[in-house]
Amino acid sequence: MDRIVKNRIILEFDGRPENVSLSRVTVAALATQLSVTISELEEIKVATSEAVSNAIIHGYQNNPEKTVRLVCTLYEDWLEVEVKDEGVGIKDIKQALQPAFSSDPERMGLGFVFMQSFMDEVVVDSKVNLGTTVTLRKKISGSGVKNKAVS
Ligand SMILES: Nc1ncnc2c1ncn2[C@@H]1O[C@H](COP(=O)(O)OP(=O)(O)OP(=O)(O)O)[C@@H](O)[C@H]1O
Ligand SMILES: [Mg+2]
Repeated sequence: MDRIVKNRIILEFDGRPENVSLSRVTVAALATQLSVTISELEEIKVATSEAVSNAIIHGYQNNPEKTVRLVCTLYEDWLEVEVKDEGVGIKDIKQALQPAFSSDPERMGLGFVFMQSFMDEVVVDSKVNLGTTVTLRKKISGSGVKNKAVS
């Protein structure tokens, strides 16, 4: 993995559901500084949304007084998104990663499935009552166009 950092943003925001789309668009806008394809961009957006919504919904139970921290780093041909909460944490990470597992019967339990299928690496670090950090990494093919408009 190429380790020369091309750009990096750090974003901290309240644990409010409206910040899911904000973080998705922000990461996508940064990603267009690399030559991403439309489909790579869509995959990055979905994976980012899933990680951020987990931090807000599960980590913080939608508590707006809590802060989610997102660090997005661009390398020559990789994009890395780190989403960190200091919420409830995950007791059993292996179980949480299982397709269709959810601690909430109303949910599908597919967030990690999307993250894993759309990104090349998904690393989950979590401690009960201390919080969770999810790191997503994606290799960028370089066959797309730079600096497209993002919405
Ligand atoms: N940041 C987090 N803090 C605490 N628990 C988490 C966090 N992220 C995930 N989890 C746990 O892992 C489980 C699986 O997450 P996943 O995103 O795959 O499914 P889901 O969020 O339950 O459902 P969906 O994403 O389909 O709406 C969650 O139900 C939750 O118990
Ligand atoms: Mg989820």
